[in-house]
Amino acid sequence: MSRWNSFNRREFLSTALGAAASFSILPPGHRLIGELLEPQSKFAPLQFPEEFIWGAATASYQIEGAWAEDGKGESIWDRFSHTPGKVKGAATGDVACDSYHRYKEDVALLKALNLSSYRFSISWPRIQATGSGDPNSEGLDYYKRLADALLEAKIRPLCTLYHWDLPQKLEERGGWPNRDLVARFTDYVDITVRALGDRISHWCIFNEPWVFTFLGYAWGIHAPSRKNFAECMRATHVVNIAQGQAFRAIKAINSKLQVGTAFSMAHCQPATSSDADRQAADRAHALGNVWFVHPALHGEYPKAFPGDNPLDLMGVKSGDMELCRAPLDFLGINYYRRQLVSAIPPGAGEDATGVHNFDAHDGPLTDFAWEIWPDGFHDLLMRIAHEYKTTPLEITENGCSYLDCPDEHGRIPDERRVQFMRGYLHGLGRALLHGANVRAYHHWSLLDNFEWAEGYAQRFGLTYVDFRTQKRTIKDSGHWYAKLASTGSLT
Ligand code: FCB
Repeated sequence: MSRWNSFNRREFLSTALGAAASFSILPPGHRLIGELLEPQSKFAPLQFPEEFIWGAATASYQIEGAWAEDGKGESIWDRFSHTPGKVKGAATGDVACDSYHRYKEDVALLKALNLSSYRFSISWPRIQATGSGDPNSEGLDYYKRLADALLEAKIRPLCTLYHWDLPQKLEERGGWPNRDLVARFTDYVDITVRALGDRISHWCIFNEPWVFTFLGYAWGIHAPSRKNFAECMRATHVVNIAQGQAFRAIKAINSKLQVGTAFSMAHCQPATSSDADRQAADRAHALGNVWFVHPALHGEYPKAFPGDNPLDLMGVKSGDMELCRAPLDFLGINYYRRQLVSAIPPGAGEDATGVHNFDAHDGPLTDFAWEIWPDGFHDLLMRIAHEYKTTPLEITENGCSYLDCPDEHGRIPDERRVQFMRGYLHGLGRALLHGANVRAYHHWSLLDNFEWAEGYAQRFGLTYVDFRTQKRTIKDSGHWYAKLASTGSLT
C-alpha cells in the first residue's frame, strides 16, 4: 500500500533538474506547444519518481454493456440512449465493449500495458435496480470478481462510485435536485463499500459533478436531459451534501480507506488582461473547477457570481455547509482543455455569473476538435496545488480522441496520441518539478468506448476496439505508454 501513498520527490528532482533548465529558456505560454510540434529529439527527457502510479480509466456505462443482465435496473443513460435523437448515430451502451463479460481480457490488457492502477466505476443500478432496497448480489459479485482479477494482476483498483448512471427510478423521483438523493446515495455507498472495502482501498465518490449537473440538468445534452438552471444549482448543492455524507459513510466502515472525487477541471484563462476578464476567469474557476472541492475542504462555496452566490435558489439550509465538509484524502483531476473567459453583463440563468467561456483554438486540435495546449495542464495543476496545498492530487483522466484505424497489417499507428501524451506528461512533469504533489496519472481511456452523446463517433482508447467483433488491439500509443509505465522515463 505504501507504494501508492508515498512519493519520492528528491529522486525525481535530482533526475529532472536538467530538464528544468531547458524548459525555462523557452518563451512562456508557447514552450510546450512548440515542443509538441518539434521532432522527438527536441524533448527534454524527464524521469518520473519510481513510486509514481501509471494507470488507465474507464466507466461502467461506457464499457460494460449487459445493460439488463443479472438483475441490473435501468439507468438514466439507458433511458437517454434508448430515446431517439439523443445520441449520435442512435448508439447505445447496451453492448459497448462488453466488458461485463470480457473483464478478464481487459485486466490482461492493463497488465500488458504495465499499468499499476485501474480506475473503473460501479453501476449503481447493478447494485440496487431501483436505487433503493436490498442489494443485488449478482451485481456486487461482478465487481468482486473484477477487483480480485486486478489484485491478482497487482493492479490497484481505483473505484468510482458514481460515473453518471443514476437508477432511472430515482430520476423519476426528482433526480439530483431532490434532497432525498442524499440518503439514497449514502445507503448505496454504504452497501457497496461494505461489500468491496476489503478488496478496494481507493475510492472516488463522484465523477465530474460539474459535468453531470450542468450537462444533465441545465443544458439538457446529457441524461436526464433537463434544461433548468435553478434545478441544476439545486442539484449541485445536493451533490455536495451527498459527497460529505458518503465520505463519512466510507470512513465509518474503515477509516483507512482513501477517499476522493474525480473533478473536471479546465485551465480558465482570461481572454484579455482586463480586470473584468480576470475576475470573470476567477468566477469560471470557482464554478467550473472547485464548486465541489471548496465546500468539502473549507465548508463554503467559492465566489462564482458577481454578487452573492444564489444560496436560496440552491436550497442551502442552515447547517448544510457542515454536512458538505469532508477532508478528502486526495483530489482527482480530470483534465482535457483550456478555456478562454471573458466578462459579460450578468443576466438570467447561467449568465448570472457574468461569464462567457469559449474554447481556445490556438493549438492543434484533436479529432474531437479539442485544443492541445499542455501548458494549461501545468498551470491548472500549479493553481490547485497552491490553493489546496496539503491534499495530494491524482490525475484521474486525461486523453484525446483520434480516429486512427488498423492499417493493412492490423497495426494502429496513432502517432498523434503519442505526441499528445508526450506534451501533457511534460506539463505534468514540470508541475511535479515545481512542487505539485501529484502521485498518479490515469489515461482516458483503456479502450475505445461509448462516448456519451457522441456515441461511438470518438475514440479515446489506448486500445482499439472493433465493435463488430469486440476484438481489442493495443494501439502504438498503448505500446509507447507501456514503456513509459515500466521505466518512468519520458523521452
Ligand atoms: C470526461 C468523462 C469520461 C469521458 C471523457 C472523454 O468528461 O468523465 O467519461 O467521456 O470525458
